[in-house]
Amino acid sequence: MSQNIKNVAVIGAGAMGQGIALSVALADLKVTLIDVKQEFIEKGINNIKRMLDSRIKRGQLTENQVQTYLGSINGQTNYQNLENTDFVIEAALEKIEVKLKIFQELDNIIKPEAILASNTSALSISQIACATKRKDKVIGMHFFNPAHIMKLVEVIPGYHTSHQTIATTQSLSSLLGKTAVVVKECPGFLVNRLLFPYMNEAIYALTEGLASINQIDETALQFGLPMGPFTLMDMTGLDICLDVNEFLYNEYGLRFETAKLLKLMVEHGFLGQKSKAGFYLHDNQPNTPKQVNPDFIELLASLKTGNKPCVKFDFNRVILPMFNEAIYAYQEGVVELADIDIAMNYGCGLKRGILSLSTDNGLAWCLEQMGNYHKLYGERFRPSWLLKKMVHAGILNLTKNANSANLSLVK
Ligand SMILES: NC(=O)c1ccc[n+]([C@@H]2O[C@H](COP(=O)([O-])OP(=O)(O)OC[C@H]3O[C@@H](n4cnc5c(N)ncnc54)[C@H](O)[C@@H]3O)[C@@H](O)[C@H]2O)c1
Repeated sequence: MSQNIKNVAVIGAGAMGQGIALSVALADLKVTLIDVKQEFIEKGINNIKRMLDSRIKRGQLTENQVQTYLGSINGQTNYQNLENTDFVIEAALEKIEVKLKIFQELDNIIKPEAILASNTSALSISQIACATKRKDKVIGMHFFNPAHIMKLVEVIPGYHTSHQTIATTQSLSSLLGKTAVVVKECPGFLVNRLLFPYMNEAIYALTEGLASINQIDETALQFGLPMGPFTLMDMTGLDICLDVNEFLYNEYGLRFETAKLLKLMVEHGFLGQKSKAGFYLHDNQPNTPKQVNPDFIELLASLKTGNKPCVKFDFNRVILPMFNEAIYAYQEGVVELADIDIAMNYGCGLKRGILSLSTDNGLAWCLEQMGNYHKLYGERFRPSWLLKKMVHAGILNLTKNANSANLSLVK
């Protein structure tokens, strides 16, 4: 049974807090938006107003509706008047000491039945929960940027999180118009855990000179991704990509070994859109065709890649690590099989679903390809044991019909 939610507090009025507060207001709930300085609150609320105004221009909202939504958001720089708060969504800095302090303080102030959620990208929900005396009521609620537009919320129960807290977080997510996918706490949760081996492998293929940036990006579009891996990395920021990939490498080991070219790009200050140059140039000239960063070619030449395997570029080499990681996550009980494609669709716009690789080519083909690449490139392609087990058990693909059979295989 889920709890009734009427009043929500959002902690942090930055990029994510603004989008989350807007989603909450649009769901006709009351929002208290909290940040450390009045100027941050004002900036946050001004940005929310701008986002609402753009909906007036598009004919989606009236001036009166916008005033009502804005009236439901109250900004403040303290924890006063939170006695009626039913649910808190924390979207402050990604620093464990900041989050522990916020959770500890809120725990002493808000009513005992209220739920405390964190929008952390990578920190441990179980650890954050231990800063409170309500560990069963602490949960991860991972929105995607921009939070008022992206439909996915990864709902991440920690070690102590209760079923009721999960149910309430799921029902709040749907009130906000989001699709909630429950992902058990693990490094990278689901979407980032699946995206990074794919982006990393695209860099390896590029480093080997098997295909150009444009070719790889275009093949990704043909596969059903909304943008290619190099466009996505430039948008995200190569420094952030490096940090996240190194984090995943430290947690999961060689499967995530970071491509040297990424480190080199960051060392040379090629960070993507924010530094005006990454894999592509970003000179902000409207209507100019995308231009590959010429300096990256020099960096590439400086990398001694040794004897390259004599193979042609095949996009499967780049996308299979995503597929394999999805099976690893399923193998670990992190996610339901049926939720994987939903998460990848709503979280990163992958229209055809990653499990379709098994439907199109057969599960045995996926294993065979992984095995071939494993021989060529090593641990990044070690197939999950569940993939082998399913193939040995005669499972042909991961369509809906096969789901129930596969489920019993993992238990
Ligand atoms: N930006 C993304 O794409 C993205 C996506 C998913 C999750 N996240 C996570 O969301 C959180 C926020 O990210 P962001 O991009 O909005 O950051 P941001 O830097 O834009 O905003 C953070 C805000 O939190 C405020 N803040 C800091 N300490 C605070 C405190 N003690 N109390 C209240 N407010 C405080 C800051 O003043 C700032 O306004 C992080 O944990 C991040 O990892 C970010």
